[in-house]
Amino acid sequence: MHVPQDSSARWTLVWRVLVSLIMLVGIRVLSSLSPTECDGIAAAVHDDFPDLPVEIYAASTGIEISLHDADTASPEHHGRHVLVSVARWLDPWVDPAMIDGAAAAANSGSFAIWLLGDGLPAAQLLTCALQVATRCQRFVQSRNEHSRTELFERVLAAHRAAHDLTLPLVAADYAHALDTHRWVLRLCPNASLALQISALFHDIERLVSESRQRVEQHAPDYVAFKLAHARAGAQVAERILVEAGAPDDLVHRVAELIAEHEQPSRDEELALLNEADGLSFFSLNASGFIRYYGIEHCRLKVRYTLRRLGNRGRAALMSFRHHPTVARLLAEELAPEPASSKVQASELAQ
Ligand SMILES: [Fe+2]
Ligand SMILES: [Fe+2]
Repeated sequence: MHVPQDSSARWTLVWRVLVSLIMLVGIRVLSSLSPTECDGIAAAVHDDFPDLPVEIYAASTGIEISLHDADTASPEHHGRHVLVSVARWLDPWVDPAMIDGAAAAANSGSFAIWLLGDGLPAAQLLTCALQVATRCQRFVQSRNEHSRTELFERVLAAHRAAHDLTLPLVAADYAHALDTHRWVLRLCPNASLALQISALFHDIERLVSESRQRVEQHAPDYVAFKLAHARAGAQVAERILVEAGAPDDLVHRVAELIAEHEQPSRDEELALLNEADGLSFFSLNASGFIRYYGIEHCRLKVRYTLRRLGNRGRAALMSFRHHPTVARLLAEELAPEPASSKVQASELAQ
């Protein structure tokens, strides 16, 4: 293999090799739907995941719907796939992390997800396809006009190189970083390069303080802990981006966004970063979070994260599967206050 001498070209090559290890290239729904129902599902999934063109074709098992990356071979050529029972996925008592292990095991090459839903109505298949795509969106390559550049590939390579994926907590942080980047592009398809890079690096500080064990549950002041984490992360990101050859104005803006990323803001990019980060907590991290920290700290985290979501983020909360206990905590937080407690609150204010 030819190895380029120029350092930026080398980073790009490294990134391409790494990306080839973890790429979701297709979702296929196996069912006996009519062509019209298939067209409807395909169009709806494509709306949410335009990076995965939808392809529909007939097969002996009925009609198959598949999504695959435009640059890759037909789904027929996928070496690996993960099977998901639609009925099981839609069971609200099942943890959506149920597919994470299989996806991780399949990711030593490009892979597809097959949804098995014969006999189920089209609406359930569509719901499942969208929710599973969200759960696995970190494996999908997404770029826009600002990130379809060699600089972004170089930054991605530097970001990946900073993570030791043999450490479980670091691997979880890496998955969360990619997932937050995908949420940014879903919420704002023309997101700036600075915002996209901030999404990738926003929690980079955890590589310093929490790579082997988490400590946030011991913080006497949770908000102060999070603000300090954000400010320290800006400095770490700055150093990595300078080494990767990012221009000064870009480095400055990324550092500014990361330093403030734990607080809702009127700055539109900061608001987007907050929402993407919060949505990634609920759509990906929450299962592992509640296992690691337990229910009481998770309740605090749900409350804290909800405060970071605007209307756009809160609406998106309904579009994916939640861990069953987190769904309950969320419902409790979102429930309107009972009239009796409102009276008490108003009395206290007098
Ligand atoms: Fe953070
Ligand atoms: Fe985060």
